[in-house]
Amino acid sequence: MKYQIDILRSDKTAHISYFQTFFYETDDPSENILHMLQTVSDDPAYKDRDGNLLGEIGFECSCLQKRCGACAMRINGEAKLACGARLSYYKKGRIRLEPLKKFPVVRDLIVDRSVMQDSLKKVEAFRQQEISLPKETDFLAQEASRCLQCGCCLEVCPNYLEGESFLGAAAMVPSARLVLEESPEAAEKVSKSYRKFLYEGCGKSSACQDVCPAHLPLDKLWAHANAAEVWHRKGRHKKAYE
Ligand code: SF4
Ligand code: SF4
Ligand code: FES
Repeated sequence: MKYQIDILRSDKTAHISYFQTFFYETDDPSENILHMLQTVSDDPAYKDRDGNLLGEIGFECSCLQKRCGACAMRINGEAKLACGARLSYYKKGRIRLEPLKKFPVVRDLIVDRSVMQDSLKKVEAFRQQEISLPKETDFLAQEASRCLQCGCCLEVCPNYLEGESFLGAAAMVPSARLVLEESPEAAEKVSKSYRKFLYEGCGKSSACQDVCPAHLPLDKLWAHANAAEVWHRKGRHKKAYE
């Protein structure tokens, strides 16, 4: 099948931004968008619809198997992982690629997501010393540890705006994990910041859950972390999964 790809090319240093269109043909129904980008970007002779050389496309990737979150971008307007998005899913044959819109663009599909690390520092949702994985039975805390820090959730969150006090699901997940852990010290550490930067700004619409490529049970995480941290009903989250 032949696909028309429209890709937003930008360069923050040159202050330019424009859509470039090219065609891509493949018979492989399992081929994904990340592979397509690698193929055309690695071909110095690949031309766009107008006959201009495509040149190297800026995009990020690492694991190639939906585990690192690096390749998150907007595909036909939806925040997704490019390595998990098959070309054949787009049956109309037109695919629009744009960088995530809630982060500053560095080049083409590369964005600067350092604000997510800043958020984690702000709520102290990280460990400074030993790492202890949750017990097998602590299902929700284990699920929370699968967060990719990809930023897709921030794209759809109506309450997240960079610079505002609410830090969004990407910070809420690691915080909720600490809240739900057994260690009172860990929970105590994030207690105040959980309420101030996360609980109070979240509208609980769960739009974030619909786009999360790791399929984290965000609604359950919010419900049980709020119960523990805001309503002081600690331990209830465990009963639901025993
Ligand atoms: S909660 Fe989901 S969408 Fe948000 S950063 Fe983690 S893995 Fe990505
Ligand atoms: S539930 Fe709604 S407001 Fe809360 S983090 Fe998710 S998308 Fe944002
Ligand atoms: S390259 Fe790691 S999630 Fe896509």
